[in-house]
Amino acid sequence: MVEAAVAAGGAGSVLFVKEPGLANRLQRLAVEESRLGIPLMFGFDVIHGLRTVFPVPVALAASWDPETIERSQAVAAREARAAGIQWTFAPMVDVTRDARWGRIIEGAGEDPYLGSAVAAAQVRGFQGDLGPDRVLAGPKHLAGYGASQGGRDYDEAEISDSELRNVYLPPFRAAVDAGAGTVMSAYMDLNGVPASGNRWLLTEVLRDELGFDGFVVSDANAVKSLETQHFAASPTDAAVRAVSAGLDMEMCMFDPAFRTLPQAVADGLVDEEVIDRAVRRVLAAKFRLGLFEQPYVDEGAADALLGAPAHRAAAREAAERSVVLLKNDGALPLEASALGSIAVIGQLADSKRDTLGPWVFDHVTDDAVTVLEGVRSRVGDDVRVVHAPGAGIPGRMFPSMFDRMDPTVEHTPDDHDDEAEIARAVALAEASDLALVVVGERQNQVGENASRATLDLPGRQLEQLQRIAATGTPVVLVVMSGRPLDLRWADEELPAIVQAWYPGTSGGDAVAAVLFGDVSPAGRLPFTWPRHVGHVPMHYAHLRTFDPEQQGRRYWEEPSTPLYPFGHGLGYATFAYSGLRLDRERIRVGEQVQVRVDVTNESGRDADEVVQLYVHQRHGRASRPVRELKGFRRIRLAAGETRTVGFDLGPDELRYWSASDRDWVQDATTVDVWVGGDSTADLATAFTVTEGADR
Ligand code: BGC
Repeated sequence: MVEAAVAAGGAGSVLFVKEPGLANRLQRLAVEESRLGIPLMFGFDVIHGLRTVFPVPVALAASWDPETIERSQAVAAREARAAGIQWTFAPMVDVTRDARWGRIIEGAGEDPYLGSAVAAAQVRGFQGDLGPDRVLAGPKHLAGYGASQGGRDYDEAEISDSELRNVYLPPFRAAVDAGAGTVMSAYMDLNGVPASGNRWLLTEVLRDELGFDGFVVSDANAVKSLETQHFAASPTDAAVRAVSAGLDMEMCMFDPAFRTLPQAVADGLVDEEVIDRAVRRVLAAKFRLGLFEQPYVDEGAADALLGAPAHRAAAREAAERSVVLLKNDGALPLEASALGSIAVIGQLADSKRDTLGPWVFDHVTDDAVTVLEGVRSRVGDDVRVVHAPGAGIPGRMFPSMFDRMDPTVEHTPDDHDDEAEIARAVALAEASDLALVVVGERQNQVGENASRATLDLPGRQLEQLQRIAATGTPVVLVVMSGRPLDLRWADEELPAIVQAWYPGTSGGDAVAAVLFGDVSPAGRLPFTWPRHVGHVPMHYAHLRTFDPEQQGRRYWEEPSTPLYPFGHGLGYATFAYSGLRLDRERIRVGEQVQVRVDVTNESGRDADEVVQLYVHQRHGRASRPVRELKGFRRIRLAAGETRTVGFDLGPDELRYWSASDRDWVQDATTVDVWVGGDSTADLATAFTVTEGADR
């Protein structure tokens, strides 16, 4: 069917092809047999690696390290191109503040500033100079998908004009500024109009305001969904309205609505010029990729390139840099020589497939290193390492299409005797010097169409953890998840908690390196970690209330403070901040101030720190958040070293979209500045902004 469509010139791009031989076969049909001989473009979800699997996107964001992120996606691009893929449906740049939404794992968390830096780094990594080892990037899903109501996937999003521009659009702007060749439209209704048929969004905002000049592709089947969403009257109406809105290519599984466009032109429903415009944009992308000069992929190159040792090393480094140490009372790093035995507990501790995370399609599951394997190889024969899977993790209620495609997806077996397995795990832990308990969600419990109504540890994982702790054996907790989970008990009772995410191909080695102190962790949370599901949506950059003590923001049952703040993450070194200073204390609107701070590594080991800068304006045309991230830098300091870190604050950082002015504004005001290691940093200064000179 695909072959016939390609030979008839009925397909411009083909998705989900990842074998070079098949790509070339289809390409030959397009180039040699179709009427116009236009080469195909092969698109694929290369989200966090192809064969070599990097940590999931939210984990990469947790590295707060644009260089690592760029390098990771450049490796992914190289592997993709070798497999015959020229275009990725990534990065996902949707800001979200709702951990129930499964797709939180695919983005960069809650913050527009961090999200913009991560989006731009990914586009640079994928596209580079668009040479023969790079792919076109496709930031998605325009726009507001992360605000779907109740965290339910595909549900409507109602977003105010100011929130849309100040929070949800900045990462798209950053991706466009970095040169992204394509953009994918979202499924859901944005303020009552489906994003994929939304002319205001796809043309006025994306093209006229953000200056995008590539092509817009719909999300899978999202043009036909315009009818399902009771927006369009028929497939023809859906196609006409989508293309007229500025959507240039329809992504679909079968029977495209765009097939009706020739007749629609003949019937006068849409101008031929509108179709030409869409075609021109897609052709321009194919020219940019050099497909007219070289449409074929070298079938001999993939074998050596996919999963190459250098790629695995890059994935390991990225994983080491993304681990977040949530809590440490001094139990970490572990000292192998002081331990006779370690019990590594949990189904996730030795699940290769779960270690890789969701959104992988060309992985070799056996290549993955689990936490158990990582620990074993780190300690060698010196320490006895035993393992019990323990509590079963119930699968998700609705298995996904991807689960069905992948025979290596792990499930708790039907004959799993939970009570007996938990008892065995507890006994093993009791007989060991240390219990390393790995808890979390299976990789298919988070991602697309994997929203949750609670943030509890699935199954009896918490009960098992409590029973293990009750044995008196010291417990170190490792969490594998793509969203914050309810860790109140663990935070209260356990000495150390490590957020490992789904760390990818070399994940277990990276986690072991952190646990045993070969690496000092410096990942930082890209979202606020709520205590309880009742907290969500939750984010640090909220507005102040009228009540100076913020009492009304409390719940009866739970403090309204997060369990861990945005930007939080510990390491094995301690850093001191001092000498926060400005080059001047008054600026005019439009001018810049330079902020400097001295950061000292007070420990005896070299380590990374993520220096974060937050601002707040005290008054202005609109109420502004209590804090907003406006600068960060991940730096490495040698033991005892002091370094001065500088940030510039000017109109780019201080202006915002004012709904009442319907414009970007910068106020004359007082700006508070905080610099430190997370969003609660208390080292502060302030400067005054006065009106600009009359123009
Ligand atoms: C997702 C997109 C993805 C597409 C193709 C859709 O269901 O929303 O993010 O790129 O499928 O796999």
